[in-house]
Amino acid sequence: MKASLLIALLAFVSSSAQAGSGGAAAQKAEVCAACHGADFNTPISEDIPRLAGQYPDYLARAMTDYKSGVRKNALMNGQAEGLSAQDIEELSAYIGALPGNLKILPLHRFIR
Ligand code: HEC
Repeated sequence: MKASLLIALLAFVSSSAQAGSGGAAAQKAEVCAACHGADFNTPISEDIPRLAGQYPDYLARAMTDYKSGVRKNALMNGQAEGLSAQDIEELSAYIGALPGNLKILPLHRFIR
């Protein structure tokens, strides 16, 4: 297991332990679920990405870049604006740990 994933999972376990059942991260993710889907695997439109099971470090990088404006998207810049570094860490660990059907395709499918 990648070290960053392990760290993110540990962060998730400790944050949900603090918040009791359900967890602070699950609560913070409610607003996100309006577009990304309650399970983060069934977005409400095809222009909205699936997030469940994505690497937490990828999710955290995307949110950090939306927040700083390095990555531009009218919807997500607004969503990320109010997130603290801790919110980003907790949301990334929570969403990344959800079961999803994202997968890595082997390179030979693209390069012949
Ligand atoms: C109003 C609808 C909407 C809401 C609410 C919303 N998102 Fe998004 N999200 C989008 C769209 C649209 C994109 C694709 C943007 C792009 O092309 O960069 C996106 C992209 C993302 C990405 C990048 C995914 C990737 O594969 O690169 C992450 C991470 C993300 N959202 C997390 C969140 C989180 C966390 C929240 C709650 C704080 C949230 N979103 C709330 C619409 C939304």
